[in-house]
Amino acid sequence: MAEAVAAPALGRLVVVGLGLIGGSFAKGLRDKGLFREVIGVDLDPESRRMAVELGVVDRCEEDLAAACVGADVIQLAVPILAMQKLLGALAQLPLGDAVLTDVGSAKGNVVRAAALAFDGVPPRFVPGHPIAGSEQSGVEASNGQLFRRHKVILTPLADTDGAALQMVDRLWRELGADVEHMEVEHHDEVLAATSHLPHLLAFGLVDSLAKRSENLEIFRYAAGGFRDFTRIAGSDPVMWHDIFLTNRDAVLRILDAFRGDLDALRAAIDTGDGHHMLGVFTRARVAREHFSKILARRAYVDAMHSNDLIYLAQPGGSLSGRIRVPGDKSISHRSIMLGSLAEGTTEVEGFLEGEDALATLQAFRDMGVVIEGPQHGRVTIHGVGLHGLQAPPGPLYLGNSGTSMRLLSGLLAAQAFDTTLTGDASLSKRPMNRVAKPLREMGAVIETAAEGRPPLVIRGGQRLTGMSYEMPMASAQVKSSLLLAGLYAAGETAVTEPAPTRDHTERMLRGFGYPVAVHGSTAAVESGHKLTATHIEVPADISSAAFFLVAASIAEGSELLLEHVGINPTRTGVIDILKLMGADISLENLREVGGEPVADLRVRAAKLRGIDIPEDLVPLAIDEFPVLFIAAACAEGRTILRGAEELRVKESDRIQVMADGMLALGIQCEPTPDGIIIDGGAIGGGEVHSHGDHRIAMSFSVASLRANASIRIHDCANVATSFPNFLGLAAQVGIRVAEEVQA
Ligand code: S3P
Repeated sequence: MAEAVAAPALGRLVVVGLGLIGGSFAKGLRDKGLFREVIGVDLDPESRRMAVELGVVDRCEEDLAAACVGADVIQLAVPILAMQKLLGALAQLPLGDAVLTDVGSAKGNVVRAAALAFDGVPPRFVPGHPIAGSEQSGVEASNGQLFRRHKVILTPLADTDGAALQMVDRLWRELGADVEHMEVEHHDEVLAATSHLPHLLAFGLVDSLAKRSENLEIFRYAAGGFRDFTRIAGSDPVMWHDIFLTNRDAVLRILDAFRGDLDALRAAIDTGDGHHMLGVFTRARVAREHFSKILARRAYVDAMHSNDLIYLAQPGGSLSGRIRVPGDKSISHRSIMLGSLAEGTTEVEGFLEGEDALATLQAFRDMGVVIEGPQHGRVTIHGVGLHGLQAPPGPLYLGNSGTSMRLLSGLLAAQAFDTTLTGDASLSKRPMNRVAKPLREMGAVIETAAEGRPPLVIRGGQRLTGMSYEMPMASAQVKSSLLLAGLYAAGETAVTEPAPTRDHTERMLRGFGYPVAVHGSTAAVESGHKLTATHIEVPADISSAAFFLVAASIAEGSELLLEHVGINPTRTGVIDILKLMGADISLENLREVGGEPVADLRVRAAKLRGIDIPEDLVPLAIDEFPVLFIAAACAEGRTILRGAEELRVKESDRIQVMADGMLALGIQCEPTPDGIIIDGGAIGGGEVHSHGDHRIAMSFSVASLRANASIRIHDCANVATSFPNFLGLAAQVGIRVAEEVQA
């Protein structure tokens, strides 16, 4: 669409220094038509000539004073060491109300230069730094699009004029940049680490190798690694010389820290300390991805950026074939936790490589545990023993994962160090008092945000005391959290549940040789024992299999085999409920793998009927209700669920969110405070919202099998938390759901 051309709102823009950055700034704003005129200033006549010829500016002036007469905005884009002289010259001119700004890569130095030149930093000076370099340089490389989707950091001072700041902020945004504001010192520290140190290393490494007598050999055989690592050694030497001279202190600080780490690696090589090396390499390998994930989620929380991943599910279809769904999420979490606390090396197979379990894995890496993998579901954990965890360098970010946060709370309450637990938008709304309160009774010191929400700050160095706790709700997470704290608490910690919940923690503790006493509905541990490394085979997750159990049940003509599914009796409520509704599900090849029962599940399409769901099955099918609601919508008659208020505090309010989606598809249903009433009938097409809840997204994908038109499901990115290859497996067996291709 052509942009409407409005009359320029602003008068004169002066850009001093017509290099790549200055030229691109001038050209971008000139193309936008925001200023009546754009004037360039440069010492080099050739640059001035080209700037006009290439349409970078309207005209050029050789003389700074002449250019600045009546300027609204003056952008200083000269090399950073030339800034002091330029600022001195500007200080002699009558600048009126002109806004001054700059693009220097180190800000402390520019601000000091401005203070010196003007006898105090002028309020209308807004220091800035676009992070958008390129190996190209000169006005001929000017590109009005250069700053699109790049960060620009503005570093206003306490007395920077608000209107001036707003103006500079706006200009960069007009160029498509993401503008952030930061303190000067912070900017210089961040840039020293993210840009200046890497450039120093690249220049230094290439020079060091080039100096060696065998350099031709080195460069002849320089493989991708050398090339990738040293690409930035091709950058402008003079500019970088300026940067290191001007950002000296921050660079020295990060360089010294890095030298310490490099020395430690050297020592590891010297002494053959493979454990140290593996630790560094395994952490580094995932660090980039991990931090980008945190940043993406943060952006989502803070700025409400739309990260909407849409699934488009086409109506109809039937299922056939045999598949193995990914590993059990609950067991995967626990394998990392107990493997880390064990003595010796634990091998895990079938580990769920979903974001939730990976969040737990990363948390233990952050606490100094060396963990190899995951690769094709294999993870090797070099256990540190019950007392071997180390303080993490910063908050532990647990993404979407309630299980990570609740179980870790118990474990961390007993450590010698403090920890902070944070999560994404959904996790940040979930109730944590259910663990914080009983843990406090054991002597833990835990701070929460308002109403017991994350982040949690857990104070280390507390002596915990065991207790007998009657859980007010049936929660395996609360039970597990307290049992994990109990590994460290004086005496016995006993937890009694009002109804049976998943017992993976108890089973796995025993698998690691740690005694657990279970009497009726009470599970108890005593401190003073140890965990011994073991081998864990994670069965396929029945909660993920559930989508296919329902899918094959409701789609006429289906027959599907789900292999190696965990059928722990505390998890099989979904099978019981579906069978009560008339589903045709049979368990084949029953066996026990590492303390957990496993079977292949065969499911054939069947006519389902509505039922009153027995309340005692609710905790045993707690994660499967979203897709059970779809089964109910396809059943003849009415299905009633009661006693399931817990569903309202899962990754979303699953009663309300499912009801909203089902109503949008024409399904008759009525949410109640602790459940829902669903009348089976026709399913239409339409738009539904998963509210970032993985299980809602997958449930509506399944609904499409019986819908009479396509279903668009919003906000599906979190399917990756529990079921990374859902779309692949769904397509393989015959569910017609795929990511919508964005135009
Ligand atoms: C889980 C327990 C359940 C379940 C969650 C995983 C676990 O939560 O919903 O997905 O691994 O312990 P509650 O214990 O809060 O019911």
